Amino acid sequence: MAMDVSDVKKKISYSAMQPTGLPHLGNYLGALKNWVSLQDEYRCIYCIANLHSITVRQDPVNLRKRTRDLFMLYLAMGIDPKRSLLYFQSAVPPHAELAWILNCYTYMGELGRMTQYKDKSQKHSDNINAGLFSYPVLMSADILLYSSDVVPIGEDQRQHLEICRDIASRFNNIYGDVFVVPEAYIGKIAARVMGLQEPEKKMSKSDGDNENNLVYLLDKPEVIISKFKRAVTDSGNEIKYAPDKPGISNLLSIYCAVTGEKPEAAESKFAGKGYGDFKLIVGETVAESVRPIQQKFNELSKNKDYVDALIRSNTEQTNALAQRMLTKVKKKVGFPIV
Ligand code: TYM
Repeated sequence: MAMDVSDVKKKISYSAMQPTGLPHLGNYLGALKNWVSLQDEYRCIYCIANLHSITVRQDPVNLRKRTRDLFMLYLAMGIDPKRSLLYFQSAVPPHAELAWILNCYTYMGELGRMTQYKDKSQKHSDNINAGLFSYPVLMSADILLYSSDVVPIGEDQRQHLEICRDIASRFNNIYGDVFVVPEAYIGKIAARVMGLQEPEKKMSKSDGDNENNLVYLLDKPEVIISKFKRAVTDSGNEIKYAPDKPGISNLLSIYCAVTGEKPEAAESKFAGKGYGDFKLIVGETVAESVRPIQQKFNELSKNKDYVDALIRSNTEQTNALAQRMLTKVKKKVGFPIV
């Protein structure tokens, strides 16, 4: 069973996540949760960006496992395969082909300005490879292949979306309206979830050596609660959003993103409570909200045939869609279609 592609009237929501490390609460609240809700309004296409992952060295066995686990996690979170298409980037060759073409329409200067490139080259100074540098071009190819209208992402990907828009407009200026110029969809709450131990820095997979800083979607409920209990708080005792309260503000954002409550409502609810009680409630709320996702993930892990069949049918369907745009682009730039 796959997405109904005949529904041409709906706009397209496209996004992706790397299968590098396990998904954490930042990924979930900043991006993935929005992917699920956008399904009501959009035709959705969600990718597992494993080509992007190898810009940093990976253990092949782990990478293969995580790629498949992430596919199951998309389903477990509520991506409905009847309405959405999900697939592995490495199984759809037009991504790499379009990325090459777009590389020729992207400038070294604009890629060199990307903050993520600067950060990653500092962290991996022994492996500053060309893939790391041209990473945003591959990401642009992902998005532009499917004429995506909106791209639900966390705040840290905003700059990459901007470069994608620039590349698309530059190409369109030369060849006519080939690409849809996409809009970022960044939620108001939890667009940048911060670490529980270091609330001045975003929660990030690369902080895996400080396990208490990150909450993984597949952490056991008791582990989630204990990580929240240990979360760093701020001076004073008020529970409110404030620039000098990064720890408490982050916990409030997490709470609001999970429950859907408005920030002011959450502040009044917790007025007069101690930090310890507050952290416990946030931890329990998060643990409860991910429990059904974990249950579904475990069920899917036992249902290999169903998952394999879905991977196959989605890959076929995605390739057909991607090939259409690639052929159009090849014609525009002057390649023979044989
Ligand atoms: P990735 O795999 O790092 O993260 C996946 C999504 O999670 C968001 N995110 C966060 N949101 C809030 N708070 C945080 N602490 C936090 N950490 C991560 C990210 O913004 C992202 O939306 N380059 C992309 C993957 C990609 C992609 C694409 C995205 C490849 N092709 C095409 C959109 C469209 C990345 O590395 O995301």
